[in-house]
Amino acid sequence: MTTSFSFQGALERLRETRVWRSIFRRGPARTNRTRSLAIFGNLFLHLLPVKVREKSLGVRASYYLGSISFLLFIVLVISGILLMFYYHPASPQAYRDMKDLRFVVSNGVFLRNLHRIAAQLMVLLVFWHMFHVFYRGGYKPPHEFNWVIGVFLLLATLFLSYTGYLLPWDQLAFWAITVGTNIISAMPAIGKKVRFISLGGNRVGENALLRFYVLHCVVLPLIAIVLIAVHFWRVRKDGGLTVREHDDEPGK
Ligand code: HEM
Repeated sequence: MTTSFSFQGALERLRETRVWRSIFRRGPARTNRTRSLAIFGNLFLHLLPVKVREKSLGVRASYYLGSISFLLFIVLVISGILLMFYYHPASPQAYRDMKDLRFVVSNGVFLRNLHRIAAQLMVLLVFWHMFHVFYRGGYKPPHEFNWVIGVFLLLATLFLSYTGYLLPWDQLAFWAITVGTNIISAMPAIGKKVRFISLGGNRVGENALLRFYVLHCVVLPLIAIVLIAVHFWRVRKDGGLTVREHDDEPGK
């Protein structure tokens, strides 16, 4: 007697079970209707469109620059959370923690460099993504609102980089923030107030370190997450990426 096991058959039987049906209320995603239901009913896929034009999946449509920026953001969030386990935003402890990361913590150098290099790459990639979108005319209607969201994302990325700069609490950090906030104070009328509020005083000290830490680890990442979610949702609502007729022609 021969017994043949069919994976497809087992899957079909599994789909008929009560447990499966209590979790997935639709059938397999084989028709346009069930494909749509698969997207609408899935927490993680809901950001994705039900249908995509083939051309917008091609490399030329985006060079995946926005997606790579997002990937770097994820790397930064994960490595940043790990770094928080070893860091105190206080003077002089912050600098000692940096030394510990270098000489004491296992893989501390790797973790710190991963965070720094990913941050530098993200700034580069976000600019590149912006230039690429501009070059393709992706800022034109109906994408103009998403372009504005993008400008705020660029600002969030730059502020994240800038606030992270002070955290190592070394000479470079101290003088970079001193110079940066002095430039801010040259703004007419509100410059000195803005400098005072961002430093929590008149000089770069412990108050400034704490403020930059909270901005860097909580406020700005939350703003970036909300903006990224709106940005992705908007790409979908604007009918996908800007595609051109000749996008998939070879050699162009
Ligand atoms: C954290 C920063 C950013 C992330 C993670 C991000 C992510 C993305 C992703 C994943 C897409 C879809 C396709 C692609 O990869 O290009 C996209 C599209 C788009 N992005 Fe961004 N983006 C960011 C910053 C920006 C900036 C700075 C601008 C412009 C000022 C911008 C403007 C746009 C526009 C207009 C589109 C639609 C493009 C089209 O219609 O072809 N984004 N973004």
